[in-house]
Amino acid sequence: MKKPIGIFDSGIGGLTVYKEIRRHFPEEDLIYFGDTARVPYGPKSPNTIIAYSMQNARFLLQQRIKILIVACNTSSAVALPDLHKITHIPIIDVIQPGSEQAVLHTRNGKVGIIGTEGTIRSNAYSKAIQYLNKDIQVFSKACPLFVPLAEEGWHDNEIVKAIAASYLEELLQKDIDTLVLGCTHYPLLKNVIRQVAGDQVVLVDSAEAIAVYLGRMLSEVDDGLSGKDEFFVSDNETKFARLAEVILDNQTFSLQRVRLYESWFVEDN
Ligand code: DGL
Repeated sequence: MKKPIGIFDSGIGGLTVYKEIRRHFPEEDLIYFGDTARVPYGPKSPNTIIAYSMQNARFLLQQRIKILIVACNTSSAVALPDLHKITHIPIIDVIQPGSEQAVLHTRNGKVGIIGTEGTIRSNAYSKAIQYLNKDIQVFSKACPLFVPLAEEGWHDNEIVKAIAASYLEELLQKDIDTLVLGCTHYPLLKNVIRQVAGDQVVLVDSAEAIAVYLGRMLSEVDDGLSGKDEFFVSDNETKFARLAEVILDNQTFSLQRVRLYESWFVEDN
């Protein structure tokens, strides 16, 4: 069964997950879909997030993937049960791997979660962490400005630092020793978050966590291919390409646009 792995995100941020997966699994064929026409998902209602996530998954399923990776934290937090209804292939979300890493790393049992409004509202991380260890205290904070800052390429400056300090203040006051970066974009701001949180706080990067998780699954389904990449977006290829260059350290890639109609198809141009 020689098939690619499909990854989707609401847009560009999932490339942080793609990058980690590519680094750990150079042999695998990967198909990435970024829903750049409809990003951001974070502030949207659960029903909308579910509908978009199902369409994204259907597009990837049409490419005959063997594993579906939901790189988007907001989709993972809200749409997972519905995604399982439309396919029997394994689905890896970002919440479970990130939660496992948080439980492994915390020493004082106080974990902070940062994410979009949708992710934080769902309580998905708190539930997953407390399912693994009910004694762990979880403190959550939505950081909606982080996504536009990351997309703007503002990854490491004084303004970002001031915003991060304001967002993280109440979590740090709770004495957290582990902080989950529960959004695809936040690894891009890791330097600033590290400066604000201090060296004592372990930062759990969901992009790294998912690669560890996928490794376990691939040892069961292993059929490495040629290491081919395919990237699809639903809009704004130019902006995607510009940011992708930064995230992927100038890796060359080809990009195709798919139209958001009832049945998906690749545009000719
Ligand atoms: N991909 C989203 C996430 O990880 C962040 C961007 C958005 O709001 O769509 O939650």
